[in-house]
Amino acid sequence: MRDADDVLRNVRKGMLPAHIYNDADVFTAEKERLFSRSWMFVAHESEIPEVGDYVVRRVVDNSFIVSRDQSGEIHAMFNMCLHRGMQVCRAEQGNASHFRCPYHGWSYKNDGKIVGLPFHKEAYGGEQGFAKKGQRLLPAPSLDTFNGLIFVSMDPDAPPLRDFLGDFAFYLDYYTKQSASGVEVLGPQRWRIKANWKIGAENFAGDMYHTPQTHTSVVEIGLFREPKAEKRKDGNTYWAGKGGGTTYKLPPGTFEERVGYVGYPDEMIARMKEQWTPEQIDVIGRDGFMISAASLFPNLSLVHNWPKVGESDDVLPFISLRQWQPISADETEVLSWFVVDKEAPEEFKKLSYKAYLMCFGSSGMFEQDDVENWVSLTNTAAGSMAQRLLLNGRMGMLHDDSPVVAPLTPDEFAGPGVAHIGYGEYNQRHLLNEWADHLEKAPPEITSIAVGAPETPASCDTTPVETSA
Ligand code: FES
Ligand SMILES: [Fe+2]
Repeated sequence: MRDADDVLRNVRKGMLPAHIYNDADVFTAEKERLFSRSWMFVAHESEIPEVGDYVVRRVVDNSFIVSRDQSGEIHAMFNMCLHRGMQVCRAEQGNASHFRCPYHGWSYKNDGKIVGLPFHKEAYGGEQGFAKKGQRLLPAPSLDTFNGLIFVSMDPDAPPLRDFLGDFAFYLDYYTKQSASGVEVLGPQRWRIKANWKIGAENFAGDMYHTPQTHTSVVEIGLFREPKAEKRKDGNTYWAGKGGGTTYKLPPGTFEERVGYVGYPDEMIARMKEQWTPEQIDVIGRDGFMISAASLFPNLSLVHNWPKVGESDDVLPFISLRQWQPISADETEVLSWFVVDKEAPEEFKKLSYKAYLMCFGSSGMFEQDDVENWVSLTNTAAGSMAQRLLLNGRMGMLHDDSPVVAPLTPDEFAGPGVAHIGYGEYNQRHLLNEWADHLEKAPPEITSIAVGAPETPASCDTTPVETSA
């Protein structure tokens, strides 16, 4: 990466070298140093509820089969045949007890173990020539779950997922644990955008500032009960552990009144009260902040909002989970899931899905507004002039790096981490600081895993061959 030290130093000051949003060398460094280590979301358990269910998911440039085996255990297996490397499973999702490679027919159980190898005896001399016992599709180096969210890391020494999440887990509960049953997801819708993956993650982490401008038309058509998108500035942004997000300020009321205000029915509110800790309840009930968009480093985002879904002024909330899956420096695959509490009434699920589709997903109004900005930014970042430009990403910070507004005290905001009222790019800076910390570390060592290697590896004769002149 060009002038890597300079880039990282500037990023840490909140001065952003514009080219990081479209630079092939930066992307190579991200693959080697960031995506090679960080925990990354691959699927939700509700996508593979039954034994044998699987989905095929990409983690940057690796394909994984995420399956539930016959005993109910979840696996993420590298989708590459151990023989000559064909992609074993070509379907995107399904139910199978076994996967058979289309090339020469090696077959694997849904926990990855080899079970069939055509002409094993004739071609390999049976177990003596190639011991298939113990061979399995390569598992993801690390796999862990939280509230049904399945994550993998390419690092076998990754810290436990719960440690990685840190206090962001407190906020994840609002989206993914509204009852003892947890959530179910629908999707993902998938599409590609010609934009750098970091832009979406930053936008969802803390960009309340763009809402009144970018989404003017959504406000003008009256999709929201609040008359002006400027309402945004009364909310706060918080950062905790490896993630952060934004909130809206709610009108005065009790916990029940405030959750009811965004459209949840009483029975769901009662279940939330049972699930959430007193502090989680206080963020809404005592402090009046309702969770909105958020991002977990590096590329998972969430959104919670409550548009009008009918002719009346009644609003209804929806939740979406979305991933910015990098394809290249200037292209991202967006995966967008609808998320809803499993115990929610059927009518609520139906209307909440409608609310989600109106706002987000491939046809969502917010989505379309946002992406136009991100594609344009990525395009502009490719040129030579962009290499001279340090963007100002210091909103919310004075020249001496002190905050424009003091952080909220524990009496004002019961949630963990650091939170500020109003507009600021605190969270974008947190996200990019994580990014810089990863890019600074040496790439992790990679150990090869040999498929049925002979006991004594074949030696290579390195004696130079004498040649006559
Ligand atoms: S590559 Fe899969 S069986 Fe040969
Ligand atoms: Fe937006």
